[in-house]
Amino acid sequence: MRSCFNPEVKRFYEKFPYPARKMTKKELKNYAEWFLPAINESNGDFFKGKRILEAGCGTGELSCGMALFGANVTGIDISSKSIELAEKKKAQLKLKNVKFVNSPIISFSSLEKFDLCVSLGVLHHTPDPKKNFEKICSFVKPNGSICIGLYNRYGRARHRVKIAIVRALSSNNAESRLKTAKRLFGKKYNSENVLADALAHPFESHHSVKEVLEWFSENNIAFLGCKPSLKKSIFLSELSWLFGREGSFFVMGGKKLK
Ligand SMILES: C[S@@+](CC[C@H](N)C(=O)[O-])C[C@H]1O[C@@H](n2cnc3c(N)ncnc32)[C@H](O)[C@@H]1O
Repeated sequence: MRSCFNPEVKRFYEKFPYPARKMTKKELKNYAEWFLPAINESNGDFFKGKRILEAGCGTGELSCGMALFGANVTGIDISSKSIELAEKKKAQLKLKNVKFVNSPIISFSSLEKFDLCVSLGVLHHTPDPKKNFEKICSFVKPNGSICIGLYNRYGRARHRVKIAIVRALSSNNAESRLKTAKRLFGKKYNSENVLADALAHPFESHHSVKEVLEWFSENNIAFLGCKPSLKKSIFLSELSWLFGREGSFFVMGGKKLK
């Protein structure tokens, strides 16, 4: 059986917690709102009073952003350093309606079911994304929503060329890859941890819209939406992501049927 988390990925995020950004309350709220079109919502007022699980919350920006809108949020993450920074953020913001748990998705347990489970940029760093997705689905209430963000198989192709160049010119460790990435592409990134996440990562996988729709249908999830939005043809959408600026990372949302 494939393991459900990658110890190298855990080590990476202990060293380079993500996003670890200083953000104002307004920026945190904007950060929380940006994925909402994937569940056919657009305004942060949607979060008010909702019980939300963020699987792979990193340093807590998204969880805190949703909590600022009045949601009750549980954020879990495999990286203890990320959770430590998330706790600091929570304390700075004096938030009482968010809690953080240091746990891999697969070992997390909760008697509570959630109105919304969200996991952005996480599953593609796990050895078995589908199994982790299924685990997250198990926490969604009937009629509740799920939202996952993944690297797209086609949209990420041009960026993968950069990753391949960095890897070819580095030793087999994140520090060496980061040094190379800084030298070649550093100007484009204003944070070292974000640069590390983009170009020095030990492991990422790539997924298609069709694949996620299959995961949805196998888990009784009705598709709600996608960001970037889909054209009539999924093939043409993904093709446009290959050539456009959007779509390297795509978010798909769905609703759990009863
Ligand atoms: C790119 S960061 C995304 C953070 C956050 N979701 C965001 O969008 O700001 C990926 C996060 O997933 C966490 N992660 C990776 N594998 C995990 C697993 N199996 N269980 C829980 N967290 C995991 C990492 O520690 C890291 O904090």
